[in-house]
Amino acid sequence: MGKPTILDVDTGIDDALAILLAAYSPELELLAVTAVAGNVHLEKTARNSAAVLHIAGRDDVPVYPGARKPLIGKLRTAEWVHGEDGLAGLGLSGGRVERESAAHMMYRLAKEHGSIVVVTTGPLTNLALAVSTYPDLVDYVEKHYMMGGAYGLTRYGFGNASPTAEFNVWQDPEAAEIVFESGLNTYAIGLDVTMDPSTGLSLEDIEALKSCGSPACTLAYHVSKFYVERVGDPLMRLHDPLAVAAAVSEELFGFEEHGVEVALCGKARGTTLVERRPWIKKRGIKVASGVRGEEFKQLFLERLRGDR
Ligand code: RIB
Ligand code: CA
Repeated sequence: MGKPTILDVDTGIDDALAILLAAYSPELELLAVTAVAGNVHLEKTARNSAAVLHIAGRDDVPVYPGARKPLIGKLRTAEWVHGEDGLAGLGLSGGRVERESAAHMMYRLAKEHGSIVVVTTGPLTNLALAVSTYPDLVDYVEKHYMMGGAYGLTRYGFGNASPTAEFNVWQDPEAAEIVFESGLNTYAIGLDVTMDPSTGLSLEDIEALKSCGSPACTLAYHVSKFYVERVGDPLMRLHDPLAVAAAVSEELFGFEEHGVEVALCGKARGTTLVERRPWIKKRGIKVASGVRGEEFKQLFLERLRGDR
């Protein structure tokens, strides 16, 4: 039996690939997917998540809608990367979105199961609302793996939404600060490792997806092709699947424990600030400082192809 897991997403292209990896990984018992506004508006992130689960043959996994906007300020979406519909313009449908709220269901499922894993691949708005509404949620979350932040721990650890801020934290800095200060056992997979070229799908990897024939591979092919052509990046960056992979196989990563705060104002708003002064004893966030990229890619591609 896998680890009871909730996946919180802003489906988008790499979130879709993360859902596929989670759906096909027996190490995780996928209890629910919760949707948040981020890459595109909530209606689309929720609908896209349900459609991807449907393609994966996982209509058994409920999708719960969450926050429509960040805690403070306006939502700033990224259709230019993910397409108007958030999924490469494929216009997918299928599956169902429930009515219960994400924050409430995170707490209810955590209490029902006693101990769960939470993986977040979008802005942290839903998790911040959940832990603010139900502070004892922390006692029921064994580990929280997040795709987010840029920590300067590798040469790739700089911003993408701004020179220093990573998109998920930049979208909702207050939510990230709440999560970092909440006492959650957080493992942060940031751009330091997700922009490591060894973790991206090459054009050859993408073309090979076409021939594996499963609906998951076909979806992965189309969204990855769209991404590399849209962004002009020679690699399909697997930001969100890396956060799922950390929950599946934590040993693929190296982590350093640091105190982490979030810049909330000025040009640096959304920047993750790592406390590295030895005389300041603030710790708690396990920040990814390395990844076995080729082994990660092998795991990702094997699971999509259906090789267990
Ligand atoms: O910075 C990358 C992150 O921002 C990914 O989660 C991607 O889906 C976008 O949400
Ligand atoms: Ca995402």
